[in-house]
Amino acid sequence: MKGLILSGGKGTRLYPLTYTRAKQLIPVANKPVLFRVIEAIRDAGITEIGIVIGDTGPEIKEAVQDGSQFGVRVTYIQQEAPLGLAHAVKISRDFLGDERFVMFLGDNVIQGGISPLIAEFAHHHEWNSQIVLTEVEFPEQYGVARLNGEGRVVELIEKPKNPPSNLALVGIYMFDHHIFEATEAIKPSWRGELEITDAIQWLVEHGYVVYPHIHRGWWIDTGRPGDMLNANSLVLEELTPEIRGSVDSASEVDSRVTVEEGAEIINSVVRGPTIIGRHTRIVNSYVGPFSSIYHHVVIENSEIERSIVLEHSIIRDIPTRIQDSLIGRHAEVTVNTLRPKALKLYLGDYSQLGLL
Ligand code: DAU
Repeated sequence: MKGLILSGGKGTRLYPLTYTRAKQLIPVANKPVLFRVIEAIRDAGITEIGIVIGDTGPEIKEAVQDGSQFGVRVTYIQQEAPLGLAHAVKISRDFLGDERFVMFLGDNVIQGGISPLIAEFAHHHEWNSQIVLTEVEFPEQYGVARLNGEGRVVELIEKPKNPPSNLALVGIYMFDHHIFEATEAIKPSWRGELEITDAIQWLVEHGYVVYPHIHRGWWIDTGRPGDMLNANSLVLEELTPEIRGSVDSASEVDSRVTVEEGAEIINSVVRGPTIIGRHTRIVNSYVGPFSSIYHHVVIENSEIERSIVLEHSIIRDIPTRIQDSLIGRHAEVTVNTLRPKALKLYLGDYSQLGLL
């Protein structure tokens, strides 16, 4: 089997972070979501992986390179515009050939990996496709499936206004070569995209076997900032803690904290599950549970909880606790001591600032 990861698209819902960075490279528990996807496919025994890229291709290539750092071989497939998930499959035909494959959306994080799913699909040759469904609170935000009394798929609709069920399509799909007939046959949707949901519906209507696997663990599509923070909390809960950096005797670091190489915790309290990245300095501060502080960050005389801070950012002397926040790269959150006393902001487009 081969793997196909979709890492194109625009990431508009994560602005301003994704103005300057591919959304799939934003880290969750200090590891980019895309790296987690590559590792999940590799752990299922698949080493030939195609990655569909768009405008952010150069950044993705620089981070992943030829895949050897993960023990896989990566082929890049350039998509000229985000014309839909089924369009991404269509343009990957040369890479995929006639092999069965798993397609994994590069912004999805799932509990428990995909090894059992891949094994199941490899075993059942009579299945032309396997889809993964899970119950969600707001099905109208996803592709939605309706099953009949025997548990067979009867209908699939992309982001329906009146969802026929609460079973959403998780961004992990398995196909054989018949999917190419479907991607040729379907037409763009109202949002101008060739929808994979419509392609799978085509398979169902033409008598191909689409097996629905119901996923019971957690799953997160990291499309929005809140989803990113939820995914971060869930992944942190599963991390095996390790102290590889230094913690001075005046600090208190609990047993669910990971401190990466070169990080320094000085006169601070850190409560887990939390991860402190390489060469980051936490000084006279409190870092609360469910925080991922990435590499080369400085947090001084401040308090932060349930947040993600990206590399090379500085948080200094902030009098109120920062909470539920997503702070990008090279950001500075400091106190202005100069007169006149005023807020001094350099905020990027679509930034959000919640003052007390
Ligand atoms: O996350 C699960 C959902 O993913 C499913 O429930 C939906 O049925 C499916 O259509 C998809 O919906 P989204 O609206 O969340 O898809 P999004 O546009 O966010 O794209 C998902 C990933 O695929 C993302 O990493 C970007 C990439 N992509 C997207 C498009 C439209 C591409 O590589 N090429 C594309 O043309």
